[in-house]
Amino acid sequence: MLENQLLKIAQDFGSPVYVYDAEKIESQYKRLTNAFKSVKSLKINYAVKALSNISILKLFNTLGSGIDTVSIQEVQLGLAAGFQPKQIIFTPNGVSLSEIEEAAKLGVEINIDNLSILEQFGTKHPNTPVCIRINPHVMAGGNANISVGHIDSKFGISIHQIPHILRIVENTKMRINGIHMHTGSDILDIEVFLYASEILFETAKQFKNLDFIDFGSGFKVPYKPGDIETNIEELGEKLSAKFNAFCKEYGKDLTLAFEPGKFLVSESGSFLTKVNAIKQTTSTVFAQVDSGFNHLIRPMFYGSHHEIINISNPKGRERFYTVVGYICETDTFGNNRRINEINEGDILQFKNAGAYCFSMASNYNSRFRPAEVLWYKDKAHLIRKRETFDDIINNQIEVDFSPKKNKELVK
Ligand SMILES: Cc1ncc(COP(=O)(O)O)c(C=O)c1O
Repeated sequence: MLENQLLKIAQDFGSPVYVYDAEKIESQYKRLTNAFKSVKSLKINYAVKALSNISILKLFNTLGSGIDTVSIQEVQLGLAAGFQPKQIIFTPNGVSLSEIEEAAKLGVEINIDNLSILEQFGTKHPNTPVCIRINPHVMAGGNANISVGHIDSKFGISIHQIPHILRIVENTKMRINGIHMHTGSDILDIEVFLYASEILFETAKQFKNLDFIDFGSGFKVPYKPGDIETNIEELGEKLSAKFNAFCKEYGKDLTLAFEPGKFLVSESGSFLTKVNAIKQTTSTVFAQVDSGFNHLIRPMFYGSHHEIINISNPKGRERFYTVVGYICETDTFGNNRRINEINEGDILQFKNAGAYCFSMASNYNSRFRPAEVLWYKDKAHLIRKRETFDDIINNQIEVDFSPKKNKELVK
């Protein structure tokens, strides 16, 4: 999207505001499907948690994508967006058996990552096929919080517990229709995927009635100019060849599934904030914006990098700024960044704001969550209104502390 289009959106819809470029989402989706074109049956299940606005889900539906969900509410959102239950996979972690049963009742594909739940579910619902999430014990991912396939992780059933799974399957007569893994986010090295895929193939051989193998996600996207990213095209070529060979050996054309979040939406998103004040201290020049980690937590939470561009003054002289929010705790978006000269009132664009940005936003400091706008076919569509004070107060219940009421309470 062009800078003047973004500026116009900030003018028309106010700031802070999230903006998503539909064309970028479509091109990433096509890039991924194209990379795996030599596989007979490919299924992309967009990871709803990355960005869960219903209009974004509807856009994915038009592209032919399915969705990956992790809560019953995400399942319900997917159904409301028009997905058929069979286009939805439910991949929760640490939820109750009853939540899984609720999802199964809605007809969605169930993915289980816990032996105890597997046994209970299989005993009660032997006719509902389930996928199992394997933990391949691979250390992968951009940082510790998003590395989920290692031996100490709470995710997945250990590959060393396959005999337990087989025993449960035999005792309950349940059917395992899919094998799944997800080892982390921001994985750069395609060798990690290829290595983990070998483990998954070995595991898959033990299950005779599979329909699909799900390789999860974790593709790394570029965060700044010249940044390295997962080479999807090379991964597509190499993994497809391995997958096709495996299907031959298995004796059936299985579906190859992925569930990317970041790859599909990260780069489509921009977060636009207005500079409230410039604060010059003895050591630093702070640009203080009308937002904070309540709206975009990734830099504080994960140390994530978001490029920050002054779209109000793109040709201005470059200076060093530390861009911070208004939260009453340290909330630094970027430290000592070279940015075109910033004046109070300027609009700053934060890039890579499509994935895990709005979906992690909160009302901390009793602030409103921002509006969301979808740029689709050269037009800005408001897809979420900015919150108002009603959203802050609506579910709160006031206790009457008046002296009269207190007396009644004591009686
Ligand atoms: C099970 C599962 N699948 C897919 C994803 C999406 O990962 P990414 O956004 O890195 O593509 C996640 C992210 O946390 C996940 O936990």
